[in-house]
Amino acid sequence: MYPNYKEAVSADIFNYINKASAALALESYVIGGFVRDFFLDRKSGAKDIDILCIGNGIALAKKVASLLPQKPKVQVFKTYGTAMLRFGDLEVEFVGARKESYSENSRNPEVSAGTLQEDQNRRDFTINALAISLNESDFGTLLDPFDGMSDMEKGIIKTPSNPDITYSDDPLRMMRAIRFATQLNFTIEQNSLKAITKNASRLAIITRERIVEELHKILLSDKPSIGLRLLEETNLLEQILPELIALKGVEEEAGQTHKDNFYHTLEVVDNMAKVSDNLWLRWAALLHDIGKEPTKKFDKKLGWTFHGHEFKGSKMVYKIFKRLKMPLNEKMKYVQKIVLLSSRPVVLADAVTDSAIRRLIFDAGDDLDDLMLHCEADITTKNAKRFKKYHNNFKLVRQKIAEVEARDHIRNFQPPISGELIMQTFNLKPCREIGTLKEAIKEAILEGKIKNDYDEAYQFMLDKAASLSLKK
Ligand code: CTP
Repeated sequence: MYPNYKEAVSADIFNYINKASAALALESYVIGGFVRDFFLDRKSGAKDIDILCIGNGIALAKKVASLLPQKPKVQVFKTYGTAMLRFGDLEVEFVGARKESYSENSRNPEVSAGTLQEDQNRRDFTINALAISLNESDFGTLLDPFDGMSDMEKGIIKTPSNPDITYSDDPLRMMRAIRFATQLNFTIEQNSLKAITKNASRLAIITRERIVEELHKILLSDKPSIGLRLLEETNLLEQILPELIALKGVEEEAGQTHKDNFYHTLEVVDNMAKVSDNLWLRWAALLHDIGKEPTKKFDKKLGWTFHGHEFKGSKMVYKIFKRLKMPLNEKMKYVQKIVLLSSRPVVLADAVTDSAIRRLIFDAGDDLDDLMLHCEADITTKNAKRFKKYHNNFKLVRQKIAEVEARDHIRNFQPPISGELIMQTFNLKPCREIGTLKEAIKEAILEGKIKNDYDEAYQFMLDKAASLSLKK
């Protein structure tokens, strides 16, 4: 079922590594992600090639570079004993085989030189421990001591040695296991799953940046809910995003229930993954309902309510990004905006007025199409009739948006009257009245009282100014 693996090492670069290894009289192998992704025929797979040698990886890298016609620069990472050179758009990393021992409080191991087998032993998963020989004597031979090929065929994530030790040694591997299971649609073997659950609290020694990197990869997978469910089941999610765990469960009061917002959220993220590759839109889907837990109330007349959950949620987005050490930049603002506006089109679907549409276009600006995608992904009802009705409603909203946009040009609204013009016209220094006039003009346009053009806005400004006793 797999392509001939000798093909994997037929590329030029491997012949140079073979020659360099022979010149230095050391053994070398291609190992890890490159081999895995080759057998899985993953086009989106590893862009880097890991070369393992029995000896000094830095010396091998330098030798390879000296043989290559391009004479690439070798980047040396002394502390790690590794070196990297670029070959086309590939990054080729060189490292000497090692055995490792870990301490309790760090994922940075004590390393010493080791054999190929010792190096394969310390790797995270059987499917990541595959090596292909680049040596003269057995060039192209697959070395698969843990039967990673069969795990690949069966679709299993499994550690080469005792999972308890593998995960405890380097707790980032818990995230990696779940990430690979999600990306490859593989199953995590039972003992591994138990060991992850047991060691979940050790995630605390992992930097948030590394955790987020894995979370991004889970979110960018075809079906992110696979990973999100696993994170929840293994108690990792409560350490990363407790706000999502708080959405779990269904409460009943006076015979009325609300939906389980955790599982609903997972569906929304999956729906979004089907229609957009935008990581931040997927983040917005993940966080769109987090404000529901703190705003949840039961009202005898209205039933369960979550008033203001969008506003609350958008504030929580900031706290989450900060806690996870994610940049507090325009991406965060974008996620906040989608969360904040996430219910607006739904409300519109019931009573579509031009002014409400104009306001939505004005508030969402360039992100309006993304917001509509979010709203459609948010439809998770299992009732076919309602499903159709909600989608049709959004179709109407989209139509209406197109009509109003074509007519009123509200998107990226630039006020037709500037602050400077107001100051000049009424001979004003900077003062509150300028803001009042500008706001009144904007409101009049959004309400449809005047057109979005200079002449009407100018006349409106004069009338409004008169009511404020401003003179030309
Ligand atoms: N590895 C490991 N434990 C880790 C990270 C990596 O044992 N915490 C080993 C695995 O053998 C892995 C190799 O180092 O295949 C290279 O790691 P990396 O480049 O981080 O990941 P890839 O497996 O190449 O996959 P991806 O690029 O998708 O992260």
